[in-house]
Amino acid sequence: MLQGSISVASDKSITHRAIMFSSLAKGTSVIENPLMGDDNLSTVAAFEAMGVTVEKFEKKLVIHSPGSHALHEPKDFLDFGNSGTTTRLMLGILSGLPFFCAITGDQYLRKRPMMRVVAPLRQMGAHIDGREGGKLLPLSIRGGALVGQTFTTQVASAQVKSALLLAGAFAKGTTVITEPEKSRDHTERMLPFYGVPVEVVGNTCSITGGAEFRPANITVPGDISSAAFFLVAATVTPGSSITIENVGVNPSRTGVIEALHAMNAAVVLRNTRDVCGEPVADLEVRYTDQLQAVEIGGSLIPRLIDEIPALAVAMSFARGTSVVRDAQELRVKETDRIKTTLSNLQALGVQCEEREDGFAIHGNPDWKPSGTIQLDAYGDHRIGMSALLFKLLHPHAIRVRDTECISVSFPNFETLMQSLQSKG
Ligand code: S3P
Repeated sequence: MLQGSISVASDKSITHRAIMFSSLAKGTSVIENPLMGDDNLSTVAAFEAMGVTVEKFEKKLVIHSPGSHALHEPKDFLDFGNSGTTTRLMLGILSGLPFFCAITGDQYLRKRPMMRVVAPLRQMGAHIDGREGGKLLPLSIRGGALVGQTFTTQVASAQVKSALLLAGAFAKGTTVITEPEKSRDHTERMLPFYGVPVEVVGNTCSITGGAEFRPANITVPGDISSAAFFLVAATVTPGSSITIENVGVNPSRTGVIEALHAMNAAVVLRNTRDVCGEPVADLEVRYTDQLQAVEIGGSLIPRLIDEIPALAVAMSFARGTSVVRDAQELRVKETDRIKTTLSNLQALGVQCEEREDGFAIHGNPDWKPSGTIQLDAYGDHRIGMSALLFKLLHPHAIRVRDTECISVSFPNFETLMQSLQSKG
């Protein structure tokens, strides 16, 4: 059983944005409690290559920037590793900066679709070229002289929206973006802290170019996407009762809590407060033997897209058939998460079916492994952590391969899980 109080890894999305906006603001900005995962370090390295100085402390980053106008052309390729958020948001920023840049990433990132940002950025005037006509990394960008445009996007994507808003911050005139559903809104919430106003009405946001970024001090809360693994772990491990302190509960990210509530999970929010424009709370969660199946789709999906691999673990132990639909976006994450999630479930003997836009899982509260089972992270941090949840319940029967990738978002995941167990 799991017992005790923990703080999980800091929010990856918020940390990326704080590093980027601080690096565009002339002067010194401070980021308290940032995530120092591999993805965020890729963002830091990109700005260091363009003339920003970043002092790294254990729980703090101090960023000294000459300002966006004084950044210089990087002398080499920028390598964004595994980080899709760095890539898409930096494409927006680099499109607005008047120099040449070439970008690439690891074997997973080089398979991920970039045309969703490249096409609208070209429309704004950016010169972007790359593999398969700009669909895939490596890409080259020659930025500058952008003109604001009005866009209606096909997918609800915070990365696309943020890339266009950031390009819009450097463009002449106003850039307007309307999404089919609301995606996470950290960019819109944080830009005003750096002196850059954004107007938001429903699913539409707009920005007028020319505002100067000013330095700011940002405190980053815990990442609900990382907390999700502990919410599920405590929900399915008999006797558990834990508190996860200081978790970001921005409504554009809390779909996982709603899905768990619909499954009868015992998750309670306490002490909700505001930290730098983001709602933050402590989450209490207890084991339940009443877990039931759930169907999720529609506008809930963008609000829990990264938590679906963790939810699939809870669905495996729930009574009845759970269904995930409208989640095609899972196919273009760090891996095709419909395939990699189901491949591990099939190895475990959990009954499940693949669908084009999601999957169905026939849960079983009495599930137990038969024999020794080998699972795989497939180079995807969230698939690796989901697999480790099964290992937590059956440590001797289950092995998980390739878990180093977890350091992308949650460097001390296994140690933290063990600290709750030893208190049990
Ligand atoms: C993110 C947006 C989401 C999410 C990713 C982080 C962000 O991606 O899956 O992990 O920080 O903007 P999409 O914008 O592709 O949906």
